[in-house]
Amino acid sequence: MEKIITFVAAHDVAFVFGILLFFGLVEALFGYLSQSKRSKGDVWIETINAFALFLFTKPLITFLGYKTMQFLLPNQANVLKTMPFWGGLLLFLLVDDFLQYWYHRSAHEYKWLWKWHRPHHTATEMGLLVSYRQAVYYYLLMPNIWWMGIFTFLGGGLPLSIGLILKQIIIISSHSLATWDSFFHKRPALMPILKVLERIFITPAFHHGHHAESKIDNIGNPNGNYGNMFSIWDQLFGSATFSHAFPTTYGIPNDPQDDWTAHVFYPLVTSDKAGSELSKAYQFEKTTVLEPATMVLEPGAYLYCACGYSKNQPFCDGSHHGTKIQPVRFTIQKERSYKLCQCKLCEKAPFCDNSHLTKSI
Ligand code: FES
Repeated sequence: MEKIITFVAAHDVAFVFGILLFFGLVEALFGYLSQSKRSKGDVWIETINAFALFLFTKPLITFLGYKTMQFLLPNQANVLKTMPFWGGLLLFLLVDDFLQYWYHRSAHEYKWLWKWHRPHHTATEMGLLVSYRQAVYYYLLMPNIWWMGIFTFLGGGLPLSIGLILKQIIIISSHSLATWDSFFHKRPALMPILKVLERIFITPAFHHGHHAESKIDNIGNPNGNYGNMFSIWDQLFGSATFSHAFPTTYGIPNDPQDDWTAHVFYPLVTSDKAGSELSKAYQFEKTTVLEPATMVLEPGAYLYCACGYSKNQPFCDGSHHGTKIQPVRFTIQKERSYKLCQCKLCEKAPFCDNSHLTKSI
């Protein structure tokens, strides 16, 4: 076993690219690539970032993490060298994944970071290259890349190499169109196995749900399912939704179709698309009004804007991305007139309970 671990660790780069190649081949062989509606801009965003990450950002940040430790805690070099391999592997992966969970979650809850993470969510179809769609600066602050440098300094080089390969398998498979969990979805007798696996690891359905355009189909969970390798953090911090189906639509609502240069280099390059979050003229401001909206609703599912930023009140238009608030899904059974809250003060929201008469915005 020791020999295998040493061999794999010594060829970690080849394994990482081998995993990419494997999923790429599966996507090509099963026709996902030929059916792809990816634009040239999509391909630019994905390839520039993949190259920037592997050739520049990861080596630079890992080096800086290492050097920072050397400067701050020089006596701690190689303290983990004597740690058993499996303990080191678990330590590396758990800290790495915990850091990435919170960084990823912050990228959905803070507007400035959301704009760097947004390219990851403008993809309207999944695929292995979606893994690398970000603004180029997004990875500079990613704490788990710093953790790689720190862990190397502490003497964890071997578990780190193996950990990166295991992470790569989960990350690529959770973005890929080659969804291995579909095998279980079609075989009810095997579902108990999947139900155990998904409580530990991120499955394709779990992560595809995160890339859904909205949660209106009751499958998507774009403001949750933040985990990278393990689903334990989502379960611990209340952001997990397990679904055994795949979303009907991917992307972000009302995507203004920004040029790829704005996606990759914002704020150095801004978008010229009206209303885009990446444009200079973009205003992030409340659109709440006191008076409720009275309207006839047909039976069906709706998303009520709870954040107060939608330009299509009282319904969600996706403006809540970059805040901690998410829309409220509600269903209507009977066609008739409804009074929907627009002051965002009603306890019975989405329905008006006349709070606007007694409270102030
Ligand atoms: S725009 Fe979606 S909750 Fe307000």
